[in-house]
Amino acid sequence: MATRQGGFFSCLPTALPARHSTGAPPVAVMIRLHDVSKTYYPKGRRSTASGVTALKHADLHVPQGRIHGVIGLSGAGKSTLIRCVNLLERPTTGTVTVDGQELTALSGSALNQARHRIGMIFQHFNLLTSRTVFANVALPLELMGMKRGEIRERITPLLELVGLTDKARQYPAQLSGGQKQRVAIARALASRPKVLLCDEATSALDPHTTGAILDLLRDINRKLGLTILLITHEMEVVKSICHRVSLISDGELVEEADVGDFFTAPRTQLGRDFLNDFLELEPPRALIERLEDAPGPHSHPVVRLAFSGDAVSTPLISRLARECSVDVSILQAKVESIQERTLGLMIAELMGPAEKTREALDYLESHDLQVEVLGHVQRDD
Ligand SMILES: Nc1ncnc2c1ncn2[C@@H]1O[C@H](COP(=O)(O)OP(=O)(O)OP(=O)(O)O)[C@@H](O)[C@H]1O
Ligand SMILES: [Mg+2]
Repeated sequence: MATRQGGFFSCLPTALPARHSTGAPPVAVMIRLHDVSKTYYPKGRRSTASGVTALKHADLHVPQGRIHGVIGLSGAGKSTLIRCVNLLERPTTGTVTVDGQELTALSGSALNQARHRIGMIFQHFNLLTSRTVFANVALPLELMGMKRGEIRERITPLLELVGLTDKARQYPAQLSGGQKQRVAIARALASRPKVLLCDEATSALDPHTTGAILDLLRDINRKLGLTILLITHEMEVVKSICHRVSLISDGELVEEADVGDFFTAPRTQLGRDFLNDFLELEPPRALIERLEDAPGPHSHPVVRLAFSGDAVSTPLISRLARECSVDVSILQAKVESIQERTLGLMIAELMGPAEKTREALDYLESHDLQVEVLGHVQRDD
């Protein structure tokens, strides 16, 4: 597959400045991972056996009040990374600092105390089946030694926040998946944490319920100023609520960007693969089968175009047809809104003599469109 410009999406204009460079006063870093690596060794054989290194030299900064996503394929090290933040997994090397306190320097009760500032939710909710909704949410407060009256005072508004006031006396088995995750969110918030860690929190839920839980997380982020670090393998989750995203591959953080930038111009091949899968913009199957790499005497290029910013609202295709004397057959098109950005995508066949279609490609590129030539299709007519 030929590419005119060193990779699809690689040089789209950035329509808006990055959020972190808007001139606003700097925000405190809430989560800081410095050169964190994690190797798993077989139990009791750390000195003799070789281990699995699931996280390699990870550096990550999440400013206070932001929602940061980490996306990667299965086995990439996402859970390892997030579990290193609250030291459910102790890093083999490197330091973890949350809210100004270096957790990797703590152990025992000091670490437990520091963990009260970090809530966590999981894919499978991890509720105690023998406890009611209320008692599940109360558990961390009981463990902290809080008095019954105080616990009730704290939990009542939390159940209201997650929309479960009427379910307080029910048991997990009586709840839907989305309701169970709401209980888990209320439980995670009970100790009034400053950070919420979400390990694939919506992966077990249907799309509608996923949307409702993401809305709740966004609401909590705004209302409570909570910093959220979430890991996911779904671009939809990143698109829906994250401000910034990191991409993890084979234990390494290989790319990091504001979400608007990532969706318009991912810098790595893995990023582009995630984006293409998410956008599902492929030529029709019948056409794919007829695509050839090299142009022939009577072939036309089939191109994938991506455009953002002003280009979305400019009638470029009709101008192209007029100014370059080519016909443009649009095979697929869609417009996506990603945060403040609008991203337009199109697959089109450029029809005309070879010199005219070459001119048309130059025209598109000179107007800040990202152009990828998918191949050439023979036309005998
Ligand atoms: N406790 C463990 N002992 C040994 N190896 C482990 C352990 N936990 C994870 N691993 C290995 O570390 C690597 C990363 O695993 P991890 O669970 O962090 O990936 P992940 O990105 O969360 O995957 P998934 O999307 O499937 O949940 C994998 O190769 C896994 O087999
Ligand atoms: Mg995982």
